[in-house]
Amino acid sequence: MDKILVLDFGSQYSHLICRRIREFSVYAELVPFDIGSDEIKRHDPRGIVLSGGPSSVYDSAAPRPDGGVFDSGLPLLGICYGHQLIVDRFGGRVKRANKEYGSSALSIDDDADLLSGVGGSVRAWMSHGDEAEEIPDGFKVIGHTDSSKAAAIAMRDRPVYGIQFHPEVAHTERGSEILENFVVKICKARQDWTMEGFIESAVEKISKIDGGVLCGVSGGIDSTVAALLIHRAVGDRLKCVFVDNGLLRHGERGEIEAMFRDNFGVDFSTVDAADEFLGRLGGVTDPEKKRKVVGEEFVRVFSEFAKKNGPFAWLAQGTLYPDVIESGVSKGPASVIKSHHNVGGLPDWLNLDVLEPLRELYKDEVRRIAGLLGVPERLLKRHPFPGPGLAVRIMGEVTREKLQIARTAGQIVEDEIAKAGLYDKVWQAYAAVGDDRAVGVVGDERRYGNVVIVRAVDSIDAMTADWTRLPHELLERISNRITNEIEDVTWVTYAISSKPPSTIEPQ
Ligand code: XMP
Repeated sequence: MDKILVLDFGSQYSHLICRRIREFSVYAELVPFDIGSDEIKRHDPRGIVLSGGPSSVYDSAAPRPDGGVFDSGLPLLGICYGHQLIVDRFGGRVKRANKEYGSSALSIDDDADLLSGVGGSVRAWMSHGDEAEEIPDGFKVIGHTDSSKAAAIAMRDRPVYGIQFHPEVAHTERGSEILENFVVKICKARQDWTMEGFIESAVEKISKIDGGVLCGVSGGIDSTVAALLIHRAVGDRLKCVFVDNGLLRHGERGEIEAMFRDNFGVDFSTVDAADEFLGRLGGVTDPEKKRKVVGEEFVRVFSEFAKKNGPFAWLAQGTLYPDVIESGVSKGPASVIKSHHNVGGLPDWLNLDVLEPLRELYKDEVRRIAGLLGVPERLLKRHPFPGPGLAVRIMGEVTREKLQIARTAGQIVEDEIAKAGLYDKVWQAYAAVGDDRAVGVVGDERRYGNVVIVRAVDSIDAMTADWTRLPHELLERISNRITNEIEDVTWVTYAISSKPPSTIEPQ
C-alpha cells in the first residue's frame, strides 16, 4: 500500500491533512515531526507533508525535522509552518508579518502541477504570523495573495513545494484537489486505500496470531467492528463477552445477542451482572462516584469471565486512530497489532497482549467497514450511549424504579422522534429521571410522582451541542405518552440548555 507521511508540527489541522488524503483513497499517517531518517525509510512513503504549527522558524527552539527529510529526494509539501521550514532550509528568508487569519484570494501564477486544474483564483484559508520574504534560489512563485507574495512556491528541479495556506480545511476552495495533485500526480501514490482492502489485510495479519482472544463488546460500533474482523480471522478462538449491567436501554441486550450470536455466529456470552452493579450503586448519589463504581465493576466481571473461560493470550479493543494519536503512542508505524500490557485496569495476572485492529482508522472509516461487514443499519445509526449507561441519566441514587422509568420513557422518546422522521437528524435524544418529585392530579387523586427530563441535542462532535428545537406537537405527544404509560411520572420537562455550559448527559 502506498503511503504519505504527514510530519506533525503541532497545527490543529494536522489531523485533517491525513483525513483529506485518505478521502481520495491514499493511506496517510500522522507522525511526530522529529521522526528519524531510518524510521522514515521503514515507512517507505511516496512523499512527505510538513504540517503547520504554532512556532516561528527563527526561534532557536523551533521544531525542525531530521535533515534527511530534505535530502531524501522524496516529494515534499510544506503547509504554513512547513512552508516556512522549506524556505528557511533551502536558503530563503522568513519574516514576521502582519498576522493573517481567514480567507484570502489566492491568485494562481503557475498551474503546471501542484495547482493544476484549480483555476485562476481561489479562496484560501490563512492562519499565520510569519511569511516567506525571499524565496530560495532554484524556487519559483506559483501563487500569491495581496499580502503574501510567495503564498505558493515550487522548486524548479525537484518536487518540493511550499504553500502558506491550509488546503486541508473546508474553507479553502479546491483544497482537496491541491492535496490530490501533490499526492497522486506528484508523489504518484496509488489510490489503493480502500476499506475492502483494509478488511482483507487486517484479517490476514490477525490470522497469524496464536492463542485465544477475549473481546468485550458493548453493542457500540467500534467494539462490534473489532470483534467481527477478528472473528473472520480466528473464528472460534475469539470469545466475546457482553456485560448486562442492568443499566441498558430497552431491548438492547436482546438485539446485541441476536446480532452476534444469531447473525454472525460469534462465540458470544452474556454475563448478567445487573444485581451486582445495582447492589454496588445502592446509596451512591455522586455522579463521579457512580462512574467509578460502574468502571470497577466492569473490570471485576470481565476479569472473572477471563479466569473462568481462558486462558486468553489477547484482549481485543476498538481503539481508533484519534485515540492513538491523543495518547501520544503513535510513534512508529501504526500497525494492526500492537502489543503492550495491562490497559483498562485489568489485573496483571491475566497477562494479556492488546489487539487493536482499528488503530489506523478514523470513525467514518469504521462506519464504512461496519457496512461492508453487514452490521445492521439500526446499530450504525443508533444514537451514542454512554459507557455507564442509564446510571448517568438518573439523578441521585440509581434505583430499579427510576431505571424502569428511564428505560420506558427513553424508548418513547426514541419512538416518537423516529416516527416524526427526526431520529437521524438529531445527535442524541433520551429521557432522564430527576431526583425530585412533583405533584400531579391523576383522575381525582393528587399524586406525588417522578419528574422526567427529555433531552434532544444537535451536535457535530459532542464537544459542543445545541438543544434541538423539536416541534411543540412532538413534545406534547412525548409528554402525553410518558405520563399516560408510566404511572409514577407526573411531570415531563424539556432540557433547553446547550453545551456549554451544560453537558449532553446530565451526570
Ligand atoms: P457529555 O455529557 O460529556 O457527553 O456532554 C458527550 C458525549 O459523550 C457521551 N458520553 C460518554 N460516552 N462513556 C462513553 O462512552 C462515558 O462515560 C460517557 N459520558 C458521556 C455522551 O452520551 C455524549 O454523546
